[in-house]
Parts: sequence; C-alpha cells; structure tokens
Amino acid sequence: MNKDEQGKILFVDDEESILEIAKDYFEQKGYAVVTALNGLEAVEILSRERISCCFTDINMPEMDGLELAERIRLVDNTIPVVVMTGYPSLDNTIQTLRNGVVDFLIKPVSLNQMELCLARVLRERRLFVENLILKKEVEGKERLEKLNQELLYKIEGLNILNKILSDLAQVGSNQEVFSRVVGMTLEITQSDEASFSVVNTSSSTVVEVSVARAPQLASAADSAGESGPDGNLMGGDGLGEGLRKLMMEIATDGIPLLISENTGVRGVPSDIRSIMLVPLKIRKKIFGVLTASIRKGDRRFTEKELYYLSFLTQNAAHSIENLALYENIYTNLFATLYAFVKAIEVRDPYTKQHSTRVTEISLLLGKALLCSPEELDILKFAGPLHDIGKIGVRDSILLKPGRLTHDEYEKIKEHPLLGADIVGKLGMWGREQEIIRCHHERYDGSGYPNGLKGEGIPFLARILSVADAYDAMASDRAYRRKMASEKILKILHDGAGSQFDPQVVGAFMSLYEQDAIEAGSSDSVI
Ligand SMILES: [Fe+2]
Repeated sequence: MNKDEQGKILFVDDEESILEIAKDYFEQKGYAVVTALNGLEAVEILSRERISCCFTDINMPEMDGLELAERIRLVDNTIPVVVMTGYPSLDNTIQTLRNGVVDFLIKPVSLNQMELCLARVLRERRLFVENLILKKEVEGKERLEKLNQELLYKIEGLNILNKILSDLAQVGSNQEVFSRVVGMTLEITQSDEASFSVVNTSSSTVVEVSVARAPQLASAADSAGESGPDGNLMGGDGLGEGLRKLMMEIATDGIPLLISENTGVRGVPSDIRSIMLVPLKIRKKIFGVLTASIRKGDRRFTEKELYYLSFLTQNAAHSIENLALYENIYTNLFATLYAFVKAIEVRDPYTKQHSTRVTEISLLLGKALLCSPEELDILKFAGPLHDIGKIGVRDSILLKPGRLTHDEYEKIKEHPLLGADIVGKLGMWGREQEIIRCHHERYDGSGYPNGLKGEGIPFLARILSVADAYDAMASDRAYRRKMASEKILKILHDGAGSQFDPQVVGAFMSLYEQDAIEAGSSDSVI
C-alpha cells in the first residue's frame, strides 16, 4: 500500500506556525497532509477526507483535542490519535487513554520525534486493520458455516417429513399403517425399539399391535422366541406395568412426552435410557400411543425427534381415516354391484348362486396355483361380478330354454365387455375389469370378445374360466340338466390346451381328487 492509499495525516493545532512546519516537513517526506486550527474544523475535514492518523493539540478553541479524539473514535476507531501537549497531567493522560488516544507527545515536539511516532502508529494501525479484516472474515466464515449447518438440518428435516408423507401414502390397510409407523419411527429416531399400542382409557386396556426393534435387539428377541410371523415382534406381555400406566396417562391427557434421560421416574423401566410417547388421535379421540426407546449407548432423544413423531402420528391418523373412508366406499360400491348380480341370478333360477360358487372355486384354484394375497383379493371381488354384463341381455335370450340363434348368441357374447365397462366406469379395479372382460377367452385364441391366446389372457381370467365352465356344467341350466361328473372331467381334460390353460386344469383335477370342489345346484343328473 503506498502512502496515498493509506490516507492523509491530519494535524490539529491552534498555532498556525506549528501546522505550517509540520505540513512542509511531512509533505517533503511524501505524506499527504491536511491541517485544522481546532477540533471542529478537524471533524469537518474527517467527514470528507480519508484520514490515516491524527496529531492534535489538547487546548484549542471551539473543540479541544480530547473531545476531538472521542469524536474520531466514534466515527472510525481505526484512526490513531496522537495527542501533543505542553502540560501533561495524570488526569489528562488517563482521559486521553479513555478516549482511544494511542500515544501522546510532550511539547516542544521535534519533527523527528513526530516522524518516528507516525511510522509506529501507522504500522500498528495497519496491523490492527488487517486483524480486523481477518476477524471479520473468520466471523463471516463461521456465520456461513452456521447457516450451512442450519440449512442442512432443515433439509434433513424436510426429507424426513417428506418420507413420512410418501411412505404413508402407499399403505393399503390399517395393519400396514401401524407396521410402517413403527418401522419409520425406528429409522427416523434411530431408536432401539418402537411400538404402537391401542389404548382404551375407559376399560384401562393397552394392546400392543405392532413392534419393531433395531437388528441387534431383534436378533436377541428372536433367540428368545418373541418374534412374530411378519418379522415384527409380538409385544404382548413385553410391556411392563410402569409403561402401561404411562401410556394410559398419555392417552388421557393427549400430550406427547419426552423423557430424554430416564432416571427411573414415572415408572419407566431402568433398562430404558431415553423414551418418547406420542398419542395418535383420530377425530380428536385418542386411539393409541406410539413409543420409541433407546436402551443402549449414549444417544438421547431430543425435541426435534419428538416433533417428527408427532408429525408421523398426525399423518398416520389421516391415513387411517382415509382408509376407513375408502373401504367404506369400496364396500358400498361392491354391495351395489353385487346386488345387480343377485338381480340377474333371481331372473334366472338356473344360475342361482353361480357367481358365488365360481368365486369359491376360483379362490381354491388360485391358492393351489400359488397366487399372491393381492391376486386372491382380485379374484374375490371379480368372481361375483364376472357376469354382471348379463344385466344388459334381455330375459328372452338369457332365459331361452332352446337353442340360441346366431344373433342371440352374439348378444350373449357382449356380456364380458359390458361387464368390464360397468365396473370400469366406476373408475376402479383395473385388474378386476380385465378378468371380467377375458373370462370367455379360450386358450387356443378362439374365444371372445378379443380372441386372446395362451399367456395373452390374464392368468386370473384363465383360472376363472375353468371355474366358470365347471360350475356351468355341474348345474342345471335353462337348456339342459347338469352333467355327470365323469363327463365334466372329460370335457375339462380334453379342453386343456384348447379351451383351458392346461396348468389350471391340472390344478382343478388334483383339487377334485381331494374332494375340495363342491357340486352344482341340482341333484338330478343326466
Ligand atoms: Fe360369463
């Protein structure tokens, strides 16, 4: 930094001759110099010039040197002020130091003395300013790091809240809600154990419905034989009396509880080091309590984790409410559609209970063919509705005792599409719709409505097709009596690979041999 960049030297003295001498001398030495006859003038100069150092007399009119020093300190505490006085006193000296004066020279002052002093204070000032900049940089960096940390915390928090919302959005049953809630609790809070219990305060009962434990604890409990079939641990009597009481308290007052450091108060077992209990309210009524505990290590729960669990229970409550609402709509809708099917069956006494029996046989076949629980559910709903499209077929055709004309048969053939359409219009059940549409497709591709072939026909429709054909043959119909079982089995056997999927026929045969399949609607056999 050159001398100009450092700013100007300000000399303040009411003796003009002193100012002139100093100005000449220091300008010759390469310094930029400004002068003032009193403090007031100096303050005015300070407001427009960049000053790097100030030499001032003490006794001056208008504003003395001490007041000037104080003003300078308030404006810019990096400007060093050197006081020059002919009458030093202890009081003066103390006052000058209080006002931020860095040095004082006793008059008469030699120019050489002033120059040495100037060099020193400017060096000190440079160091001071550099230190100040460094300190500000460090403070800035620290502030940035703090902000960064806060941002990371916020992102982590948002991720957790987001995960809670997306995980809960995927659940399909209440039991699943509970197992997800305890699973998420374990993960989010890094606890050793999490459980959900349904709490009934009026009957004072606590039933633990889902438990999850960290791997180490879970394997210990496994070897103790406490593990349930789904990998969750059956809590059962795992809750101590103290915890039960505490859960009742939480369920009564409805306020989440955090015991960061368990000292054995409130009946919490001594092997628990830290615990949280959060109520789950459904429509303002407390339904149960979620708990998370730490049993080993030095980690302790904090308010932040309690907040996550409160958020989790609130959203789990919404999921439970939505599921209840959805199940209600689903059940109502199914009941309505099934009423249509019953209406068709009432029209045609020969098909009485046909849909129910087809469903039962389809479910037996589905289980034998190792269908998933979800697929069995689809069969359970699609089975009773598979002929719902017949609602659009006139009685004169549906109940015709004799042989159908070509046109009449074409009309009957519309029922799978019509049925799929009825169910589809309700905006639900994609896979159920497929089964209804495809239950008259044939394995060799000669069926209707689309002439699908082999694996191109949905598997569940191939199952339903065998069940449907069997029950049709094993029941009386408007146009014929039910067939003898040998004949039915032969037709099924011969139809394997042409009308039916051979794998499904195989499963049917072995179920039939085990007497698992019941006969149709009449005793009379032709
Ligand atoms: Fe049908």
